[in-house]
Amino acid sequence: MMFTVAIDGPAAAGKGTISKRVAAFFGFAHLDTGLIYRATGARVLAGEEALEAARSLRVEDLQRDDLRTTEVAQAASKVAVMPEVRAALVDFQKDFARREGGAVLDGRDIGTVICPDAEVKLFVTASDEIRAERRFLELSGKGQDVTREGVLEDLRIRDQRDREREAAPLAAAADAVLIDTSEMDIEEAVAVAISAVEAVLKR
Ligand code: DC
Repeated sequence: MMFTVAIDGPAAAGKGTISKRVAAFFGFAHLDTGLIYRATGARVLAGEEALEAARSLRVEDLQRDDLRTTEVAQAASKVAVMPEVRAALVDFQKDFARREGGAVLDGRDIGTVICPDAEVKLFVTASDEIRAERRFLELSGKGQDVTREGVLEDLRIRDQRDREREAAPLAAAADAVLIDTSEMDIEEAVAVAISAVEAVLKR
């Protein structure tokens, strides 16, 4: 069976957790496409040229344990502006989406560009302050030296760059289900996402 769930939204809205939980619930594979851009950004921070890094990206690059920092996130958002870099990463994502057994992909342009024919599209948002608070707790919990103001600033700068770029900007697909998680805990958000998928599977 081929079945694609596309989950988009701004940074730290809850896409990652929702995607993992939806994939586990239905037995689908999951790809966090932000990791591809983060891995490319990390190699640029280490001195490589962006397009070269994107073209030679390997699975091991996605498994690095240093990709979840605000520095790497900013580098990812910057390489993601370049149309050639995005183009180099398209096939990998499309192949993943059409794998046998179902797939969940989360990112910024999955429902609009990578998988415009996805069976389910979700757009997950939350207020800036709530996203910043959640990301602050996550990063400080991992021992990273971050402040609430610094995390909020990082999210706002990235969201603006991600929304305003020419190539595949962050946007909800016209047929996406909007999920605002500002007033939901994670269990509620996951339940809403699972019901949206179930509604389509039952058809
Ligand atoms: O989801 P994330 O925060 O790990 O993503 C990091 C950056 O990568 C994000 O700010 C923009 C870019 N990105 C993108 O342009 N397209 C995607 N599908 C996923 C991420």
